[in-house]
Amino acid sequence: MPGDMWRSAQAEFREGKGWIWREGERRRQTWEMTFESIRFTCEIGDSKQVGVFPENAMQWKWIQQVMRESPAAGTILNLFGYTGIASLVAAREGGEVTHVDSSRRALRIAKSNQILSGLGDRRIRWLVDDAQKFVQREIRRGRKYHGLILDPPVYGKGPKNESWQFSADMLNLCQACRTILEPQSSFIVLTAYGLNQPPSFLEQYLDALVPIDQGKAEFSELAIPEADGERRLNIAISARWTAWAKV
Ligand SMILES: C[S@@+](CC[C@H](N)C(=O)[O-])C[C@H]1O[C@@H](n2cnc3c(N)ncnc32)[C@H](O)[C@@H]1O
Repeated sequence: MPGDMWRSAQAEFREGKGWIWREGERRRQTWEMTFESIRFTCEIGDSKQVGVFPENAMQWKWIQQVMRESPAAGTILNLFGYTGIASLVAAREGGEVTHVDSSRRALRIAKSNQILSGLGDRRIRWLVDDAQKFVQREIRRGRKYHGLILDPPVYGKGPKNESWQFSADMLNLCQACRTILEPQSSFIVLTAYGLNQPPSFLEQYLDALVPIDQGKAEFSELAIPEADGERRLNIAISARWTAWAKV
């Protein structure tokens, strides 16, 4: 990004200092953005998170494509769903979505994004819960899902302060999720941040979720390409799997 574009930033986030607004700039708390027909609100809060992880746009496009090709849209589970853009994409494609996140603030924004996007009539269960506890309950209920969207942080907390640590808990969560996936489950999309590992590192988790060889798996970097240049900002790694389609 050209230097003057950086210099034109109205505010920047500094670790330990929070948001620093440039002299004389009007402090805006919220603004609206779009991903195709999905409209969502970004919000300046205490943390550096503003309500969207732009690198996930690649995942949203993929979810949309596999759901359009999928024989049955079916039931979709979005764990660590944050402000719900992936859930809205899946709901727009006809999926019956269950969205789980431990943050009440994220769910408040997610529900307003649903209305903002004119998807108020779509069936989305918005649940404030701990991902691991929720999956254990679904196992006891015998509930099954066709599609699974997973976007866990490296560290996190459940609504009752349950601890989440990717390195310690992710394999268990994947093994548990295997039990709530429809045998003919359609797709899995897993995004992971800050692991300092190549995309193939996620194969062990995909393997715990599904019989990888009975579908198509792909592993890649999630990057934000430079607007007018060659460079790419690698942000996360991704594992995707489909049971049927050669996407
Ligand atoms: C990387 S963000 C998810 C980004 C999101 N998938 C997206 O596309 O915008 C991680 C999310 O995990 C949630 N989280 C952290 N610990 C959790 C837990 N134990 N159970 C459920 N959600 C948790 C956080 O509130 C946060 O919204």
